[in-house]
Amino acid sequence: MTRRDFLKYSVRGLVAATVGTGVFNATAAQIELVRVPVKIRNLPVSLQGLKIGLLTDLHSSSIVSSRLIKASGDLLLSEKPDLIVMTGDFVSGATKFLSGSIGQFKREHVTRCAEALAHLKAPLGIYGVLGNHDFWSGAESVETICETFTRQMGTVWLRNRSVTLNRGGASFRLLGVDDYWEESCSLSAACRGIEADSIRILLSHNPDINDDISLSGKRIDLVLSGHTHGGQIVMPIVGQPVMPSKFGQKYRAGLVRDGDRQTYISRGVGCLLAPIRLNCPPEVTVLTLT
Ligand SMILES: [Fe+2]
Repeated sequence: MTRRDFLKYSVRGLVAATVGTGVFNATAAQIELVRVPVKIRNLPVSLQGLKIGLLTDLHSSSIVSSRLIKASGDLLLSEKPDLIVMTGDFVSGATKFLSGSIGQFKREHVTRCAEALAHLKAPLGIYGVLGNHDFWSGAESVETICETFTRQMGTVWLRNRSVTLNRGGASFRLLGVDDYWEESCSLSAACRGIEADSIRILLSHNPDINDDISLSGKRIDLVLSGHTHGGQIVMPIVGQPVMPSKFGQKYRAGLVRDGDRQTYISRGVGCLLAPIRLNCPPEVTVLTLT
């Protein structure tokens, strides 16, 4: 085989493998329900088995349908989570490279996203933090998202603060920060006033918050994130060469351990730039504490 033949067949093989392993047009039928047991040190007996439903990166826009968003909510509810958390990028924000119909902020994208999820309910409530895209269209976008989701589904926003949640006589702290790329992100504010021995679960759109956690020396038991979309387009062999993270591939998707701290990164539901996912289906996650 000549070198030219070798290259020709290699390229053909790569294309075949790419297409063959699955281009998803991000439809409701393609959503994967991912169940993740998470072992937490010193977890009180009453919190064992606690189910956390995680929705992230809905990216409500002209390329992400209400049907897909509603189907993600339906799937989550079918697991009967004790609480529901949403970790940002409710919309696709306006940027230099995302102008026009995809990136321009439109109130209707927020409204239809909240309407599609209005049926969500959980005994311990619904909590949210904002992602980079939610901030990128400015104050109107942030205010509209917060106000609409609170009105439609009673979402409690954790903007650099925490709440105490109780179950069966035991409690834990649920913390949240603004998006890591925003000046307003403050881990120290979120941690203010928390008890030394509390179980701590942090909502952060961007998993890179791990850098701040490590530098601060604060103990966080579990971080719940999205942001990376799992790569969204994942090529065989090549993988996902560009990741929006200072840690490269480390926090692309799944459960990642840093000492005693664990971070779960969901691939999210929606899409950016094009309504396509390759080898990376939309995800709804249910984490069970053990
Ligand atoms: Fe996103």
